Parts: sequence; C-alpha cells; structure tokens
Amino acid sequence: MSARSAAWSPDSWTALPIKQVPEYPNQAELRDVEAKLASFPPLLFAGEARDLKTRLADVAEGKRFLLQGGDCAESFAEHGPDHIRDFLRVFLQMAVVLTYAGGTPVVKVGRLAGQFAKPRSKPTETINGVELPSYRGDIINGMEFTEEARIPDPKRMLEGYRQAAATANLVRAFVHGGYADLERVHQWNMSFVQDSPRGHRYEELANRITESLAFMRSIGITSENTPQLRQTNFFTSHEALLLGYEQALTRKDSTTGDWYATSGHMVWVGDRTRQPDHAHIEFVRGIKNPIGLKCGPSLDPEELVQLIDLINPENEPGRLTLIARFGAGKVGDHLPKLIKAVEREGRKVVWACDPMHGNTITSDSGYKTRPFDRILSEVEDFFAVHRAEGTHPGGIHVEMTGDNVTECTGGATEISDADLSDRYHTHCDPRLNADQSLELAFLVAELMKKERAAKSNGTASSA
Ligand code: PEP
Ligand code: CO
Repeated sequence: MSARSAAWSPDSWTALPIKQVPEYPNQAELRDVEAKLASFPPLLFAGEARDLKTRLADVAEGKRFLLQGGDCAESFAEHGPDHIRDFLRVFLQMAVVLTYAGGTPVVKVGRLAGQFAKPRSKPTETINGVELPSYRGDIINGMEFTEEARIPDPKRMLEGYRQAAATANLVRAFVHGGYADLERVHQWNMSFVQDSPRGHRYEELANRITESLAFMRSIGITSENTPQLRQTNFFTSHEALLLGYEQALTRKDSTTGDWYATSGHMVWVGDRTRQPDHAHIEFVRGIKNPIGLKCGPSLDPEELVQLIDLINPENEPGRLTLIARFGAGKVGDHLPKLIKAVEREGRKVVWACDPMHGNTITSDSGYKTRPFDRILSEVEDFFAVHRAEGTHPGGIHVEMTGDNVTECTGGATEISDADLSDRYHTHCDPRLNADQSLELAFLVAELMKKERAAKSNGTASSA
C-alpha cells in the first residue's frame, strides 16, 4: 500500500478500526466533555513543535542526542509539585551527564503533561476469581479494583487536561525561570543519591562544570547575559492513545494552516496500536508534530516502510522517531533488518532505544519488574547494532522517576526481589529510580564516547 490518498481531517480516524478503545457507557456525556475540551486553550504553540522537529532533525544526523523519559503513567493522585520537580532534577542531571560526559547536546523530551492513557495486554483483570475491566490510565478509569472505579468516565479527560496544563506550566517555569541554570548544577543532586558512587561521580562532573563557568565568568560570560546557560530546552510528549481527547485538542495553526496536536509537543503511537490501516496511524499522519512510533518484535521491515510512507511521506527529517523496544538479547534479531530497510529506502529517521518495554517480567514475589542489567544490555546492543550498520544511535526512551522507588531490580544499589514491596508506587510499569537513572546516563555517556572515538578512527562502516 502506498501513502493513503484519502483526505485527512481531525476526525477521519473515526471511520477506521481501532484497538485499545474504552467503552464509555454515557455517550452523551462523552460528547459534552469532548466539546468542552475543544473550546479550551491549546497547551502549546505550534512553533514549539516545529522547534522540536528541527532539533530532532539534528538527532537524525547524529548532531544531538534525544533523552526522552518520565512516568509510565502519570497519576492524578501524585500530582504534587515535588514529584514534578524531583523528576526534572534527575532528568536535568541525566542531560548534563550525556552532554558533558557524552559530548553531545541533548534534546530533552519528558513523558509528561499528558501521559495518562495506557494500552493493556488484556481487556479485563481477574483477582481472586473476580473479573473486572482493566485499568486504562487515570484519564480513562480508576486503578482501584472495584466495579465502579473501572467504568470509563469522560470527566476524567477534563482532569487530565487540567493536570497537563498545570504540569506543563510548572515545567516551563522551572526550565525558563532559573531552575535549570547551569550555576545550579550541584543542587539537582538528590539527597538520597548524593552519597552513592553515582552521586559522587555526578558531583565531580558538576565541579568541572562549575570551574568552567567560573572561567567564563572571568571573561564576562555569565548566566545573566547568556540565556544558553540560564535556561534549557524541554518538550512534552505522550502516547496518543485516547483519540477523542487528542482530536479535541487538535488545532489549525494560524501561521501555516497546518494541523497540530496541542496536547503535547511530540506524540507517539504504541506498539499495540500501530496497524497501518487503523485509527491511530490515521490520526497521527495528519498532524504536523514530531511523531514517535514504537517498534516491537512483531514489526517486519515491509510494514515499517509502509508506516513510514504513511507518517512521513515527504521524508522530512525530525518528523519520525522510531523507538525500538525488543528486549535484551533480541535486538540483534530485529533491529538490523529494520535499519537496513530504512537505509535502503533512503528514509530519514531518528532511532531511539526504549530498553524498558521488552524487559518486563513478573518477579517470584509477583511484582511486575525489570532487571536493570537487562535494561543496560538492551541499550548496549542498540549501540552495537548501529555501529555495525553505520547509523546513529539517536536517543533513549525510559520510564523513570525522581522518587526513591523500588520498582526495577538491580542497579548499583542492588534492589532485590524482596525489596520491591518497600516502595513500589507505579501506576503501570516499573520505573528506574533516581539512582538507576543516573547510572544509566553514565553508561550511555560511555557508549556515546566510544561511538565518537570509533567514528573519528574511521572504524565505523558506512553501509
Ligand atoms: C509505553 O511506552 O508505556 C508503552 C505501553 O509502550 P509500548 O507501546 O512500546 O508497549
Ligand atoms: Co510503560
């Protein structure tokens, strides 16, 4: 199939088959809520999404690195300022590590301010013989295991919009109002990480940055007169799963006449909803935001090319980020053939590695977890395959939090299966805690350094 020629409109997806869709018992209320959302202000300006696309075009060429991360699912209950601030602290630390130790500017994209709707592997969940509809994320139904909580409630979309707006506002304030000032690089270290070897390693890096800043100040370059030191780039992203919500927030940009999803700067399509002839792909093909596409083991090269034709028919760099999520030990089976197909067709894409979703297991104690060594191993394999293919390992996509949780096993602090019950708070999948996130960033920085060294030695093939 070639690029779809039929006209696109914000609601053209409604004519197509769709997966992972909630069944709202009260359709009249659903329509009222969607109409209300459609009357609300956009959460962003289209120019910002274009700015992100330009930066991602640099990622596609290996000139920048994409760091995308945040909660698996944002929760209504945890919408406190500390949760957002602590996430941002660790995220900024990771970015500093990647920029200064890895030697490449970082494009920062949070999984936040809209990451509420979750695809599920089964439509129902059974506990002690009781079967109820699955939890689908706070924007759809409640996590509590009761019949009432699990009924999809359209009003939750209004709460999702409110929370997304408040989160985006706070993040903007932090990022542009001085919190991300490099002069504060020491203050991002979380108290519970400070005393770990990762915390110390970070402190050393921060000391070097502070020394450089002191030198720059001596020659007149300060964060007061140099915005690049005082503020940073930061963008929002989420899975565009709940299409009624997305459609209501899709607006025509008055400058260009193009349609943009204004629910987040970048949106992605999940591995379960990326069928070329289904609703989710139809929706994203018509909006001009940067788009992510999750690529799991069931995606074959022909289908990938077909999806690229649909989503990025003009081969615009920065438009499409392919987020590989195969699982440790499986990257070599799947990624090379996808990369070869993309290269053969001359398509410009960003390749990012999601080392989380292919590595979820149920621990002996019954928790859904992810062993840290498998996460690292998938990232290593991702870099190795790109090295062999002569393509750019463009970024990582992780589920993480600034909170001191125990959800993924392993890491230098050696969280064991028995520790998982201590602080297991996720609303969906297990996240890296602050210490594990920092450890991952240092490892990726090493891989980036090796990558650069290999390139300058001319050992990378140019297949
Ligand atoms: C996710 O990113 O939370 C997710 C559900 O991923 P995937 O679609 O890759 O399974
Ligand atoms: Co997840």
